[in-house]
Amino acid sequence: MKIAGSLCVISGASSGIGKSTAQELAERGARVVLVARRAQALEQLQIQIRAAGGQAWAFPADLSKPYEAVRLGEWVLGELGTPDILIHSAGAGEWRFLDETPLEDLQHLMDTPYFAAAYLTRVFLPAMLQRNRGFILSVCSPASRLVWPGATGYVAARWALNGLTEALRADLYHTGLRVCAFFPGKISDSEYFRRNTDTERRIPRIGRLIPEVTSRQAALGIVRALERDARMMFVPWQLHAFDLLARWFPRIAEHLAWKTGAKRTDA
Ligand SMILES: NC(=O)c1ccc[n+]([C@@H]2O[C@H](COP(=O)([O-])OP(=O)(O)OC[C@H]3O[C@@H](n4cnc5c(N)ncnc54)[C@H](OP(=O)(O)O)[C@@H]3O)[C@@H](O)[C@H]2O)c1
Repeated sequence: MKIAGSLCVISGASSGIGKSTAQELAERGARVVLVARRAQALEQLQIQIRAAGGQAWAFPADLSKPYEAVRLGEWVLGELGTPDILIHSAGAGEWRFLDETPLEDLQHLMDTPYFAAAYLTRVFLPAMLQRNRGFILSVCSPASRLVWPGATGYVAARWALNGLTEALRADLYHTGLRVCAFFPGKISDSEYFRRNTDTERRIPRIGRLIPEVTSRQAALGIVRALERDARMMFVPWQLHAFDLLARWFPRIAEHLAWKTGAKRTDA
């Protein structure tokens, strides 16, 4: 996928992986639409990108609401045209065992990333299909490949996003649209763990064998995935090795996740 000159819609652009991806794509000549709820953070990023000579538009929206996604779709299609690239990086959610999770939170856990990505794709897909060109990339979690305890609603929502991504790839087979599932390891400088305070200590200790990456390193991985028309990518590569281990030896992976993961007694 050619990045220079492309129109990219990026969800979760106010922080973390989405923000770094917007910066890297804009630096390479993409026109970026920045979407998240925090208007001020998006406006700051818009100013920064424009000051560096790039093209960016901040569009504050809560993507858990279908009508907000429709409003975004109407504005982008009307003012800027059909997107070439969609990046789904909006995500939230505390890690809890199911029996610790308030009933009303179960639905919120699915809002982002799953519904946000489904709504965003739905509003742009007809136009992208009509042009028969484009790239859809989901920032997925390793939790949708290697499951660990103590994060039930989070894991289920990441499986939903991964499922949506795989289903879209099947739907769009033999069209000009490409679909990629991108898996980053733990992000060292992301706000995620500050926003979801009980989460970090629940990462299974076995995960420490996988080097952490910065948001920028993840964003550079996304750039590579776009340039190579990749269908799937892991950053860092050690995460891929763990993924293969879990595919080939699922019982060992289950045991290690249980042995080194969150226990109900420390919840
Ligand atoms: N951090 C990690 O170590 C890691 C590793 C692997 C996978 N991931 C996955 O990658 C995704 C992004 O993670 P990150 O580290 O970049 O997290 P982050 O820094 O917390 O960023 C999440 C982004 O999602 C946006 N967002 C949340 N709810 C939204 C909503 N309802 N509507 C629109 N935007 C919304 C947030 O902006 P506003 O608050 O302004 O709306 C923010 O820009 C998550 O799904 C996460 O599970 C993260």
